[in-house]
Amino acid sequence: MINLFINNKDTKFVNEIKMFEKAHSEVLSIAQKGEMQYEDSQGWLDTEEWANQKQLERIEELVKEIQDRADIFVLIGVGGSNNSARSVIEAIQKEGTPKIIYAGNTLSPNALNKILNQLEGKSVYVNCIAKNFETLEPGASFRILRKYLYRCYGNEANERIIVTGTKGSSLEVLCEENGYRFLEFPVNIGGRYTAMTNVGLLPMAVAGIDIRELVKGAHDMQKQLREQRAENNIAYEYACIRNLLYQKGYRIEMLSSFEPQFRWFYKWWIQLFAESEGKEDKGIFPVSSEYSEELHSVGQFVQDGSPILFETFLDVKEQQDSLLVERDGVKDYFDYLDGKDFWEVNKAAYHATVTAHSEKLPCFTLQIDTIDAYHFGQLFYFFQFACYLSCKIMGVNAFDQPGVEAYKVGMFQALGK
Ligand code: PA5
Repeated sequence: MINLFINNKDTKFVNEIKMFEKAHSEVLSIAQKGEMQYEDSQGWLDTEEWANQKQLERIEELVKEIQDRADIFVLIGVGGSNNSARSVIEAIQKEGTPKIIYAGNTLSPNALNKILNQLEGKSVYVNCIAKNFETLEPGASFRILRKYLYRCYGNEANERIIVTGTKGSSLEVLCEENGYRFLEFPVNIGGRYTAMTNVGLLPMAVAGIDIRELVKGAHDMQKQLREQRAENNIAYEYACIRNLLYQKGYRIEMLSSFEPQFRWFYKWWIQLFAESEGKEDKGIFPVSSEYSEELHSVGQFVQDGSPILFETFLDVKEQQDSLLVERDGVKDYFDYLDGKDFWEVNKAAYHATVTAHSEKLPCFTLQIDTIDAYHFGQLFYFFQFACYLSCKIMGVNAFDQPGVEAYKVGMFQALGK
């Protein structure tokens, strides 16, 4: 379950949101049905299409072998081909599962050498994920990793390579020619919307994540958001709030949390909104803040700086960890903490921050019950659907990314492609 709270106690603002919601409700009913004009990009709208029983079974079969044989699983992928898996794995990976290493997201020789150094003496499997296999980073990393695998395992390397690519792509041909195993990258979903497909689910499952729970979370959220009317649809409410604030001149949204387990989820969220919304000279720039650490850096700007941003807190309702601050007999002037639980201390910091920031800027809270696979599934579907709605209200195509091509022209020219 996800709840949305408006933290500012300003009735005029709350009424404005209600009016905005009434005025745009047609957007919701169109999005709930899905649109013909985006049919090549909306394979994620129904989780059944790419995360059904058959697909989950195939993933589980592969995972059994990988978990039995691999010490290290290298995920080669960039952007949408990496971010969803990484955000869940880095938050809730199960102990005793293969170490996950990320490649295909950098061109830095320093970073790539560090990756290779970690592989020495270990049993390695590689999953190369790319929609059309033209992107430079995964293509270059795959070469390096293939060479490494052939050096270590000879022809057995072929069994250790799993490729996630679209049917008919050059990556599929490469698999056929070399005997790598092939998983389908949905042709009708862009990378940043692929959490609930082979792209996100295989690496997550290797890391011991309960992908059936994850898919269930997404599916329950899908049912809720595609059926509920505008008055009580939280994705629609969130999309309307963002657009109302955008019209009022706010250009930055900060996603903040007091739980560092969301560190990599921020990256997924930033990609989703930046690539979907930032076009035609429009869009809200997404940034993140990891509290309480960054209260001691960006916190100053948020409270006192240019009034250009609004803040969305990601909060967790149920206590899931505990650590008591015990007395130790040393006079350190922190006696007020004696006997308190860090959970309670962290929450006190959260509530005080929400109160202080709400005096300065629009602040909202998205609250989940707990951090687990089910709620990650809920969050993925929630933000994807909300992002689609937000783009529709703003009048941009949520599913293309023409702006990322500009730099590539010069880069490919310099490299002689
Ligand atoms: O969301 C998207 O479509 C993009 O950000 C892609 O995920 C990213 O560019 C990686 O593309 P590919 O999987 O083709 O390497």
